Amino acid sequence: MIEIHNIHKSFDGKKVLDGVSGVFETGMTNLLLGASGTGKSVLLKCIVGLIKPDLGSVTFDGTYFTNNKLDIRQEIRRKIGMLFQGSALFDSMTVEQNVEFPLKMLTSMSKGERLDRVNFCLKRVGLENANTKMPSELSGGMKKRVGIARAIAPNCTYLFCDEPNSGLDPQTAIKIDELIKEITEEYNITTIIVTHDMNSVIEIGDKIMFLYQGKKLWEGSRDDIMDTDIRELNDFIFANRLMRDARKVEQEEEEEAESIEQNSKLDDPGSI
Ligand SMILES: Nc1ncnc2c1ncn2[C@@H]1O[C@H](COP(=O)(O)OP(=O)(O)OP(=O)(O)O)[C@@H](O)[C@H]1O
Ligand SMILES: [Mg+2]
Repeated sequence: MIEIHNIHKSFDGKKVLDGVSGVFETGMTNLLLGASGTGKSVLLKCIVGLIKPDLGSVTFDGTYFTNNKLDIRQEIRRKIGMLFQGSALFDSMTVEQNVEFPLKMLTSMSKGERLDRVNFCLKRVGLENANTKMPSELSGGMKKRVGIARAIAPNCTYLFCDEPNSGLDPQTAIKIDELIKEITEEYNITTIIVTHDMNSVIEIGDKIMFLYQGKKLWEGSRDDIMDTDIRELNDFIFANRLMRDARKVEQEEEEEAESIEQNSKLDDPGSI
């Protein structure tokens, strides 16, 4: 479980994060949702320690991270896997070398052990036999898969993904979302995904934090997100015509169910 408490961050006097607190659960896909420029990536970077918050704290499974001793922060960092926006693979390295890289940096595994782990992770993301390919030979979806394999290679406890399905077609995007959710549940990882994609919310939003202008305006699950009366959240969700149509269908179904119930009561006066 990751807990954040009262995170503030400004750049050049401009407030980007304004006292964000919350909990990200283990074994769940926790989404950070919000419009462009609202501070999602900055919050993610504050959590992993790439940016130092001006105020506030981050705790990983009870261990205080922000401002703690270097060796404790490094110990936590070793448990973090990160999938960057755009995958950020090393262009001059093969797929195998990309996935092996964090194992070389972070573990004392032998070459043979590293290769076993690389092959295991590539198989897990559906890319067995892609070892010798160069990133330039891969499709966008395959690059994301390699990025995921690289992130989980050192047995990560915490997984951070910044816009994992941006730039992918809708079907591939859903497959990548599902893969991240499966891996999260299988290895009981605490996963935080930054997104502004409503498809991801509906497919994998176990727990969602909605950010608006640097503040947390709402949190809950995909089951509740359509039924809030928070104007900023509704503006965000229903900006998309498909989502508006989905809400209309839902409302019509509810009205129909209500009228059927009313009619059945009228047919059976004893039940009233
Ligand atoms: N290193 C930095 N220096 C100055 N300003 C920054 C820095 N990083 C982010 N910002 C500013 O912070 C604000 C929030 O940026 P952030 O990248 O977190 O947005 P976001 O919610 O991730 O948006 P998007 O969905 O477009 O990725 C933006 O106005 C951005 O310009
Ligand atoms: Mg961002």
